Amino acid sequence: MSKKNFVFVALFLFMSVGLYAQKWEHVADAPQMGWSTWNKFQGNINENVIVGIADAMVTSGLRDAGYVYINIDDCWHGNRDADGFIQADAKKFPHGMKWLSDYVHSKGLKLGIYSDCGTQTCAGMPGSLGHEYQDALQYARWGIDYLKEDWCNTINVNAKGAYQLMSDALRAAGRPIFHSMCEWGDNKPWKWARDIGHSWRVGPDIWCSFDSLRVFPTYVQYSVMDCIHKNDTLREYAGRGHWNDPDMLECGNGMTVSEDRAHFTMWCMMASPLILGNDIRNMSQDTKAIITNKEMIAVNQDSLGVQAWHYSSDQGLEFWFKPLANGDWAMTVLNPTKNTVKYDLKWQNFNITDTQVSKKSTDFDKIIYKVRNLWTHKMEGKTMLKSKKCRTLTVPSHDVVAYRLIR
Ligand code: GLA
Repeated sequence: MSKKNFVFVALFLFMSVGLYAQKWEHVADAPQMGWSTWNKFQGNINENVIVGIADAMVTSGLRDAGYVYINIDDCWHGNRDADGFIQADAKKFPHGMKWLSDYVHSKGLKLGIYSDCGTQTCAGMPGSLGHEYQDALQYARWGIDYLKEDWCNTINVNAKGAYQLMSDALRAAGRPIFHSMCEWGDNKPWKWARDIGHSWRVGPDIWCSFDSLRVFPTYVQYSVMDCIHKNDTLREYAGRGHWNDPDMLECGNGMTVSEDRAHFTMWCMMASPLILGNDIRNMSQDTKAIITNKEMIAVNQDSLGVQAWHYSSDQGLEFWFKPLANGDWAMTVLNPTKNTVKYDLKWQNFNITDTQVSKKSTDFDKIIYKVRNLWTHKMEGKTMLKSKKCRTLTVPSHDVVAYRLIR
């Protein structure tokens, strides 16, 4: 090889390694956005469902709103082959996973898959224990972009070790893959997982309820409000590249429009993953308007990457604040009560500082913010300096008023 060619090849290799590292590094700059089979379909999945959802992601405008991952949750698995490589269930996925990922990619979307740190998944399919490197290699060969790794059937498995092992395997396989750790908070992953995967579940599974805990003999399912309150204790651990995950969205699965709006708003405020869980091939205009609200999504994806916090409560309302990258603030008044609440809001009561994470302050005595209503998409005047005058808010039951305070 001539010296000139050698320099070219060396430069090419150097840049490829650089680009690859950069891709891994930026895979979770903002909370992940996409869709998953689980909340609506559970194990009743197949190739047609995924293809239909991929098509609908594009035609409904969801892809262009930022939802890119199509995640196949539990029950896609067939058996391992003679060498131990996992195969897809050939009845459910007759064209195989590589074909499916090619299809999904052709739509400008990404494909996600699901496994488990233990011997079996929660639905009894083959787990990755003892097959981590093989599974990671298989996913990379198939063109998978996202792995949700669950925590069933893990007796005597060390959580940190197990997730680290898969993380190493994914890197060795060579394809940037978003690593979503689904360990339900059992071993406090927020304390050790920030450099292992890209998000970690903080608690039990969500179910489609605004505020009722669902209790089974050996486990519970969280309502929207349960998820919010658990997640609020963990905001200091979240940030760019590593997010708290209070579980997937239930918008469009049976709650009221108000509840869906409140649920979606709070996931945006908390910089939570926005993984849709409804049948987007078939959704109401109300559901679509909620999940494609670009101003709300911008709050979720904001590059400062700070999770909102519950600053105070008054008259049953919760006041939540999220500092944004350009000096703006997102503010949400959440009404978890059963009644509509009228509230006289005085900005000066909210001169606050985020001492825990960003150190940013609102200063309503010095700064006048323009007030943007994130659900009506209308400007509602400005905040007032040293004013005694109040702004009267009407917050319906199980609903929100959400503002962007613009500098
Ligand atoms: C666990 C997870 C859920 C889902 C199911 C699949 O319960 O927490 O999100 O993946 O397993 O069996």
